This record gives sequence, C-alpha cells and structure tokens, in this order.
Amino acid sequence: MTSSAIRRRIDERLAELHERIAAAPVGPDERVYRSGEGYLGVRAVGRAADRLAIAVVTVGGDTHSVGDHEVAVPLHSVAKVFTYGLVLADLGPEAVLARVGVEPSGDAFNALRVDERTMRPFNPMINAGALVTTSLVTGGDPAERFARVLATLRTFAGDDRLTVDRATLAAEVATADRNRGAAYLLRSAGLLTGDVEAILTRYLKQCSVHVTTTQLATMAATLATGGTNPLTGERALPRRRVRDVLSVMHTCGMYDFAGEWAFEVGFPAKSGVSGLILAVIPGKMGIAVWSPGLDGYGNSVRGVQVCRELSARLGLHIFASEEEDALLTEARPAAEPPVDLGALEVAVREDVGERPEAAGNT
Ligand code: DON
Repeated sequence: MTSSAIRRRIDERLAELHERIAAAPVGPDERVYRSGEGYLGVRAVGRAADRLAIAVVTVGGDTHSVGDHEVAVPLHSVAKVFTYGLVLADLGPEAVLARVGVEPSGDAFNALRVDERTMRPFNPMINAGALVTTSLVTGGDPAERFARVLATLRTFAGDDRLTVDRATLAAEVATADRNRGAAYLLRSAGLLTGDVEAILTRYLKQCSVHVTTTQLATMAATLATGGTNPLTGERALPRRRVRDVLSVMHTCGMYDFAGEWAFEVGFPAKSGVSGLILAVIPGKMGIAVWSPGLDGYGNSVRGVQVCRELSARLGLHIFASEEEDALLTEARPAAEPPVDLGALEVAVREDVGERPEAAGNT
C-alpha cells in the first residue's frame, strides 16, 4: 500500500472512531478528576466527561489528529514514564532497580504499600514509585533538577512550549496530603532520601505540565522510534532505556487493569487522571487519546475503548501476526469482535461447574 493510502486509511479510521465513540452515552459511574476538587461524578460535570481527542504520530513523523486535540491538559501520571526514563539514563538500571521495582502491584495508583519481599515500591508507574524516581533526578539544586525533567518532556514532544500550568500546580499543592504522607513514609523507611517538600513539588510540577493530545502522540512516537523524536530528529532517550521504559509500561502502565489491557489491547500504554492515555506501537506509531470520563481503575473510559478498537481493527497487538496488520496489508483480516472478558470469565466458571455467585469466595 502506498504511504498516501496508509495516511488516508488512518484518517478515515480515526474520524469514524471519533464520531462513534464521542456519541456513546456517558455511563453513570464515570468520574472526572479536577485538580483541587478531586473526583466528581458525571452529574456534577455534565457533558465535560465525553470530550474526546485522538492523535496518531507515525515513526515517519506523519501526524493525524481528530476532535479536541488542541486542548491542553495536565500530564498527571503520564509524566511518570519520562521521569523514569531520565533517571534510568542518568544512573543506570541497577541503581534505579535498587530503589524501585518493576512488578505490577495489583493496587490502586495511590496505595500506601511497598513490596514486602524487597521493601521497595512495586514499580515507577504508581505514585510511591514515582516519588522515588522523582527523588533520583540529578542536578545542582531543585530548580536545575526540575529543569532537567521539563527539558526531557520538551525533547520528547519536540516542543519548547510545554510548561507547568500554574493554576493546576497550586491546586495540586493545596491538596497533596496523600502524596505528602506517602513521601514522608517512604523517607522514614529509608526508601527515599532528600528534602521531601522539594521532591513533592517536583513530582507535582511534572504532573502539572500541560500537553495537547497531538503533543502527547509525538511523545509516544518518540518512544516508538526507539528514542528519537520523529519530527526534530533529536534523541530524547538511549534506545536501550526505551526498551526498559516500554517493558514497565506494558506490565504496569494501566494500573490494576494492566493484565487485561496487555491481553486484549496488547501494546504498552500509560494513563493519567486527566483522561490521557499514551500508547506506543514500537516501530510503527505513537497514539494519544484524551477523554476525561474515568472508570473505576482511573483509566479514561473512551480512551480505553479507542485503543481497544484501534488494536483490533488495525492489528496493533504487539504479538499479532504481520497479516493482522491492516495498515500493511490491503485485505483486512476477518474482524474478530473484541473479547468480553467479563462474559468469558462467567463461561469459564460455568465450564468448570462453578456457580458464578460463588466465585468471590474462592
Ligand atoms: O499524584 C496524583 O495523585 C496525581 N497528580 C496524578 C495521579 C494520576 O494521574 C494517576 N492516574 N491515573
């Protein structure tokens, strides 16, 4: 297929996906996170929950965006990916692994629990782990340390306009009790060293950097190329460290939904409470989705749906065969409907003669 045909195919898919998913009704359990206010039910925010932007940047630098892709929102937990990469590049994986593990936790992102076998936070994609990686950023003083984080984010995006949104930061600082408590607990356990308030401020600043969905897709594409920004040609991270980062995103990036995500969607991703999802198809493209309505895991409801469909329709699961790749092959594979894991679980239980209502007690 020619590159213009591929471009057209991506544009058509994105426009169709956007139209259909943006029109789907907002679920009664969806919540929206607002800095300073916390999680609000959809009744409080109305239609704000279903805004939707989708952006794709290929490793060749082709950019495709639909919907609210120029709206800038806080990175929140998506920033954890880039700070982890920065400290891995600075200190090497052994020094970082000595302080933060790479195991999925099975807990919520803000759980105050460490891996009791190793006495480290489980991984850098949850708050406890990210507070530790943020503490490891090197620099002469706090200003220089944060400047290095921001410079990394800007190199990934190929855009020096990325900056901290002051209103977001002020609201986050005013309501940071849980993260502050976690940071002091980590220091008391010897897992974090240094000035807790300076580390917390650096963590909240990186959370408060605003990005558009298109900028985030470029950051994802920089990971997809192996660390070189496809628009500027600038290296943001050594290739070997990109592999480390993507491995941890793949197993831990979607919180306690990470296993189902890896099974069904099948590419490394990271979500944030603003409703962003950053996703990487190595060697092919970066994807970013923004939609503020969150599910019970804290992942964007429509963001998950968009990635699920892009994966199924374009054959983007990293363990899919080449023939499933609808961008490379003319003939689309027979579309397999997305697996409903809830229904599958019931079917398996029935298969082994277990009554579904008894399952919780086993
Ligand atoms: O640290 C916090 O609680 C927020 N600033 C970021 C958390 C977050 O994005 C978790 N994501 N789902």
